[in-house]
Amino acid sequence: MLSVRGLEQAYGGSQTLRKIDLDVPAGSCTALLGRNGVGKTTLLRCLMGELPLRAGSVVLDGEDVTRLPSYRRARLGMGYVPQGREIFSRLTVAENLAVGESAANGEAAPREELEQLFPILRTMRNRRGGDLSGGQQQQLAIARALISRPRLLLLDEPTEGIQPSTIKEIGRVLKSLLERRITIVLVEQYLDFALELAEQCAVISRGEIVLRGRIAELDPAQVRRHLAL
Ligand SMILES: Nc1ncnc2c1ncn2[C@@H]1O[C@H](COP(=O)(O)OP(=O)(O)OP(=O)(O)O)[C@@H](O)[C@H]1O
Ligand SMILES: [Mg+2]
Repeated sequence: MLSVRGLEQAYGGSQTLRKIDLDVPAGSCTALLGRNGVGKTTLLRCLMGELPLRAGSVVLDGEDVTRLPSYRRARLGMGYVPQGREIFSRLTVAENLAVGESAANGEAAPREELEQLFPILRTMRNRRGGDLSGGQQQQLAIARALISRPRLLLLDEPTEGIQPSTIKEIGRVLKSLLERRITIVLVEQYLDFALELAEQCAVISRGEIVLRGRIAELDPAQVRRHLAL
């Protein structure tokens, strides 16, 4: 589904990502793991076209998107849920969803479909984004990405700072997306959550992939060692 080759990225003179090769198979979840500051968010932003690459390529379903701006990638079926959610706090829930609709290529998902996934969004429809709890904002951020019916969803730490019951709910929704054959790239530091959803994972350390494989074939203790401080 997504194929990354030789990706390099630098913020000014400081190189953040080196020689990243990554294959994301269709219809499953690929977890990107790593400690704070190793380059996970930078990698997702490169995949989405929000940051320029120093070298390398990003191919989506055989189409080279390396030079496409993010709105074109969105129209080709990529959805993005950024770290920290980036909800528009002065817009209502309904208005936040409308922003997501504008990224759709063709027909957007009906609101009812999203409200079925996240019932809280129905209850809170006319509330301002800024009045929602962190967990509610995260659900809104995921719904805002789903409204354009992406085939590939990039999620950056969706469990960060969120209470356990909402994490469970988000986990259930992500599973239902996988059942619908939506492909997921999940950046996580909550290892158990990632291992439950993902079929394969890549561990990043200092901008490089240092361990990768199918979860079923990896030793969880080895993954944990890479993530331990
Ligand atoms: N806009 C920026 N300009 C300059 N340096 C940046 C910028 N954004 C991130 N960095 C640096 O790039 C490195 C990778 O940051 P990144 O946010 O990708 O890490 P991360 O793995 O997502 O971390 P976290 O787990 O804390 O979210 C860090 O050293 C960070 O300080
Ligand atoms: Mg990050």
